[in-house]
Amino acid sequence: MPGTAPAIALRGLRKSFGDHTVLDGVDLVVQPGTITALLGPNGAGKTTTVGVLSTLLRPDGGSAHVAGHDVVTEPQAVRAAIGVTGQASAVDDLLTGAENLRLMTALHHLGRREGRERVEQLLDQLGLTDAAHKPVSTWSGGMRRKLDLAMTLVGHPAVVFLDEPTTGLDPRSRRTLWDEVRALVAGGTTILLTTQYLEEADRLADRVAVLDGGRIVAEGTPAELKSAHDAGSLDDVFLRLTEPSTGSGASTDRGTGTTTPTTSKEVAS
Ligand SMILES: Nc1ncnc2c1ncn2[C@@H]1O[C@H](COP(=O)(O)OP(=O)(O)OP(=O)(O)O)[C@@H](O)[C@H]1O
Ligand SMILES: [Mg+2]
Repeated sequence: MPGTAPAIALRGLRKSFGDHTVLDGVDLVVQPGTITALLGPNGAGKTTTVGVLSTLLRPDGGSAHVAGHDVVTEPQAVRAAIGVTGQASAVDDLLTGAENLRLMTALHHLGRREGRERVEQLLDQLGLTDAAHKPVSTWSGGMRRKLDLAMTLVGHPAVVFLDEPTTGLDPRSRRTLWDEVRALVAGGTTILLTTQYLEEADRLADRVAVLDGGRIVAEGTPAELKSAHDAGSLDDVFLRLTEPSTGSGASTDRGTGTTTPTTSKEVAS
């Protein structure tokens, strides 16, 4: 969408933890109403990037804007515009699904009736109505991920960050979530998604950005990336771009553990 302000703009973004440089000058622009998939090896800095964009982590250098607002100087305006589904689930196990959602509507200052209506609407939208009044501890992993997404959507965010939203989901649940994401984008929402399922990025994303060695090493539509790297799939593109011998050591130091929680609760509060 030329002429419109970007929904997300990163310029020369830098972030280190101690002497470990994770983001070493990240440039990325996401246009409104589109889906961008941020890919990269474990430890590349995807969750760190989401952390900066959702104002949970302070960048060391460069700039990050969301919905036109600077994450450092206008964090409240950024928080008002975003929803975050973290890599680690933000739902409270002891509460029911409906209670978790009610908590979010309260955080968003919805009144009693408005809050109840929004909860019912989201439970229905994500197919969670039947289980709504059971403790989340009894829910399956896929149902919890859907609840995570529902909690992210409570405040009608303009920009949504989804950090590995479909990890552990069965193929059907994954497709349900993709449909939800597509519906959000059709309604004008902007999505930045991280995933290790490259078929997901291929099917869902308008554009794909690959983070490795602290920088974006490739960016384009899935078709452009496959064609540029003479590859049949994004898996092949990913493997070529992130070979251990060509990438920096920054991305090879950890497995699939979780990191600083980026929960929708924290962002909304
Ligand atoms: N709070 C922190 N303190 C110190 N180091 C951190 C912190 N958060 C992240 N890191 C380090 O920053 C690097 C990037 O981590 P990050 O979680 O952003 O990677 P990722 O791309 O999301 O990886 P994954 O695919 O495994 O989720 C890792 O080396 C990690 O150990
Ligand atoms: Mg991560």
